[in-house]
Amino acid sequence: MNIALLASGKGSNVKNILSFFKENNDGNKICLIATNNPNSPVRDYALGYQTPSVLFTKQELNKEGYLIDLMESYQIDLVVLAGFLLMIPIDFIKHFKGKIINIHPSLLPKYGGKGMYGDHVHRAVLKNNESTSGITFHYVNENYDEGEIISQFEVSLSQEETLASLKHKIDVLEKTHYPLVISSISNE
Ligand code: GAR
Repeated sequence: MNIALLASGKGSNVKNILSFFKENNDGNKICLIATNNPNSPVRDYALGYQTPSVLFTKQELNKEGYLIDLMESYQIDLVVLAGFLLMIPIDFIKHFKGKIINIHPSLLPKYGGKGMYGDHVHRAVLKNNESTSGITFHYVNENYDEGEIISQFEVSLSQEETLASLKHKIDVLEKTHYPLVISSISNE
């Protein structure tokens, strides 16, 4: 499969996925890194792995057909969101139905929806004294964080859990499982 990664932030998942597919010759190739954030390091990571990258504005993203044309020009089979924070246009979701996946740092449907990303999610989990949290992989549909769930991975939380310790637990899960989830989808 030809895979595109879309990210808006610090890009640690992008870096991890690039490294995994460089080392594992399973027939999958990261063919494109795309971001809306000029300050994200993901374009540098792309360069380091000799992978094409694109920076687009929110306006470009929302132009009808923009993302479809971009993905088709790289013959992309699977679009992987890794901390991508802009709303994906509906025309693209319809066109690429079943071919866009996302990672969310909680056990959906808990702590999902608009505004729930990164530390906002973890702070809400801690505030509610949850005894577990985790990560969810899901297909992307028209509603934030509501697409069909692919898989979830859970961790126990202690009474002394802090933002930093919770983030670390989630990070370990994300780095362990995202490349494997992508790889397993391609084998279906
Ligand atoms: C990850 O924890 C991912 O689960 C989360 O953003 C972070 C991106 O980190 N995604 C969401 O919250 C989506 N709602 P990264 O930029 O270092 O990969």
